[in-house]
Amino acid sequence: MTALSWGSGMKLHFLRSPKKRSAVLEQLYALLARRGFQVTESLPDVAVQDLDAAPQHDLYIVKSRTPLSISVAGMLHRRGARLLNPYPSCAALLDKIVVTAALRQAGIPTPRSWAAADPALLRSAAMAQRLPLVLKPFNGIHSHGIRVVSAPDQLSDGPTTTEPVLVQEFVEGCTERLKIHCVGERVFGTWKPFSMGGTHVPGQPREVGEEVRDIAVRCGRLFGLGLYGLDVLIGRRGPVVVDVNSFPGYKGLPAIAPILADYIARCARGEEDVIVPRHRTADAEVRTDGGSAVQTSGAPDAPIGGRSGARAGARIPRTAP
Ligand SMILES: Nc1ncnc2c1ncn2[C@@H]1O[C@H](COP(=O)(O)OP(=O)(O)OP(=O)(O)O)[C@@H](O)[C@H]1O
Ligand SMILES: [Mg+2]
Repeated sequence: MTALSWGSGMKLHFLRSPKKRSAVLEQLYALLARRGFQVTESLPDVAVQDLDAAPQHDLYIVKSRTPLSISVAGMLHRRGARLLNPYPSCAALLDKIVVTAALRQAGIPTPRSWAAADPALLRSAAMAQRLPLVLKPFNGIHSHGIRVVSAPDQLSDGPTTTEPVLVQEFVEGCTERLKIHCVGERVFGTWKPFSMGGTHVPGQPREVGEEVRDIAVRCGRLFGLGLYGLDVLIGRRGPVVVDVNSFPGYKGLPAIAPILADYIARCARGEEDVIVPRHRTADAEVRTDGGSAVQTSGAPDAPIGGRSGARAGARIPRTAP
């Protein structure tokens, strides 16, 4: 089979946030185009979205977690589009309270946690005994708004918020933060010195041991994720998951782009089962038939690379979803 016939002109569409494309994403687009896929992208946050728009692509890849991107993913999902990660999985990950509760329910090591609409509600003798605690906005990203509270009078000191907070026991004794990056059931690791987030330098590659690998695969199955990442701390009692993300940046893994390209290609061709979350939700009405009936009406998309002959790394057309 030639590289071109591999993708056979199947249409892959990335839903992205307005951030600059990373080097990994540029390589990924080029590799997929070289394999005969038509690759396009759109940035839902920079254009008006038509709620009557029908799916036009064989597979949508959700590389954004902005609220509007996830709404667009949901709209496409309801209209029968195939999405990677599946919409119910992307939507679930927006709420750290639900994610943490699900991890604990599944027996995945995660700090003991609570939720509160107002941090002042935490001022109780019972909570004071649990200090230090980490308070996180329930929909937080990039460590914004995270704070560590180590004295009872700090519990109501923080900025007033209208959003609920996730409250977690502080995992003591960590010197490193592990970033776990998964592609299907392949698990990769990088590490950075411990911090409460805030640094966006790539981590250093790190072998992943059996215990963390097993935890990572269980998280993927639990949430029905194919492309995902975990923040794992190695505490005094072993590894603890403190965060789960869909389609992370895969920073610090120089050889990851071909692995991502293979996996996405296999999903597009219906050779991977992540399209249907193994842990089904009530809303998981996801198609399983390989996508041949996806509607193709609407504006045509100009392909990059592949059959169009455009060079790898050329400007990716931005289109309507
Ligand atoms: N319960 C905890 N105990 C100790 N440290 C924690 C805990 N929860 C989070 N941290 C630290 O804070 C970092 C950021 O937390 P988290 O990943 O939950 O937030 P985020 O908004 O997704 O941030 P980022 O995008 O930087 O990962 C974690 O990578 C970890 O180093
Ligand atoms: Mg995180």
